[in-house]
Amino acid sequence: MTTNSPTGTRPFLKWAGGKFRLMPLIRTYFEQHDNALLVEPFVGAGAVFLNAPYSKFILNDLNKDIINLHTILKKNSADFILEAQKLFQPKYNQKKSYLAHRQQFNQSTCAFERSVLFLYLNRHGYNGLCRYNQALQFNVPFGEYLNPYFPEKELHYFAKKAKKAHFSHLDFGQFFKGLITKIKTGKLPPNLMIYCDPPYVPLNQTARFTQYAGEIFNEHKQLELAHFAQQLSGLGATVIISNHDTDFTQDLYKQAQIVSFEVNRTISCDPKNRVPVKELLAIFTP
Ligand SMILES: C[S@@+](CC[C@H](N)C(=O)[O-])C[C@H]1O[C@@H](n2cnc3c(N)ncnc32)[C@H](O)[C@@H]1O
Repeated sequence: MTTNSPTGTRPFLKWAGGKFRLMPLIRTYFEQHDNALLVEPFVGAGAVFLNAPYSKFILNDLNKDIINLHTILKKNSADFILEAQKLFQPKYNQKKSYLAHRQQFNQSTCAFERSVLFLYLNRHGYNGLCRYNQALQFNVPFGEYLNPYFPEKELHYFAKKAKKAHFSHLDFGQFFKGLITKIKTGKLPPNLMIYCDPPYVPLNQTARFTQYAGEIFNEHKQLELAHFAQQLSGLGATVIISNHDTDFTQDLYKQAQIVSFEVNRTISCDPKNRVPVKELLAIFTP
C-alpha cells in the first residue's frame, strides 16, 4: 500500500512523528466508522485530531507542556496568540536570546508563560525537537533558522476545533483504565474510535527505544498498549495503532488486521536526504 499526498490542516507545532502525511490513509479507516467520538491517548501536536471527521474528541499526552498549551488555546487563544507573536522578532532569533528564553522556560511554573515560551522554543530550537534532561529541563540547542514562521492561522484553527475536545496529561495506562471504567459504567459509548500513535519501536536491534521526558517507551509499554487495544476492542471499540513494521510489531499485533506501507523519512537536516521506512497500522475491530 502507498500513501497519498496530504492535504488538510497542519499543526502549529513541529513534532517528531507527526502524522500529517499519513492522514489520507488513516482517514479511510475513520470514514468507515460511524461514531462521533475520536480518542487519542498520544495526541502530540494533533495532526490526526485536526484532520479527523469527528465532532467530539478525548485527547491525552504524557507531556504536560503540550497539554497545558492545548488547553490554554482552547480557553483563551486571543491572549495567547498576542503574547506568543511578540517573541517572533529578529532580535529574539539569536543564540543568546534563545538560551535566555530557554532558561526562563525552565525556571517558570506559570502554565501560560511556559506555553508561550514552549511555542517560541519549538519554532526557534533545533529541528523542532522536544527534549528534556533527567531533571526535566528543556535542553534543545538553538536552531539557527533564517526567519521562524509564526503559525497564526494554524493556532486559530486549532483553538476553534479544541472547543470540542477534552484534554488530559496521563500515562496511557492510567488514561485507558479511566476510559474502560467510563465505558463499563455507561458514561461513554463502547463503539469508540481510538487512534494510538505511541513512540515507535526501534527499527533494528542496535537502535534504542524512544525516550520522552526521561521515560523510555520500552518493550513492556508496547505490550501493555497492545493488551489495552485487545481489551477495548472486546468492549466494542475500534483501535488503530501506528508503529514501525518489524518482526517484533508483526508478532505484537498478530490478533489485529495489519496494513503495511512505506514512508519516505528525512534522516538528516537535508530534506533531500530521504530513505524509505516500513510502517504499519494495526487495526483491532470489535
Ligand atoms: C509519535 S508522537 C505523536 C504524534 C502525533 N500523532 C502528531 O501527529 O503530532 C508520540 C507522543 O506520545 C507521547 N507519549 C510518550 N510516552 C507516553 C505515555 N507513556 N503515555 C502517553 N503519551 C506518551 C509523547 O509525548 C508524544 O507526543
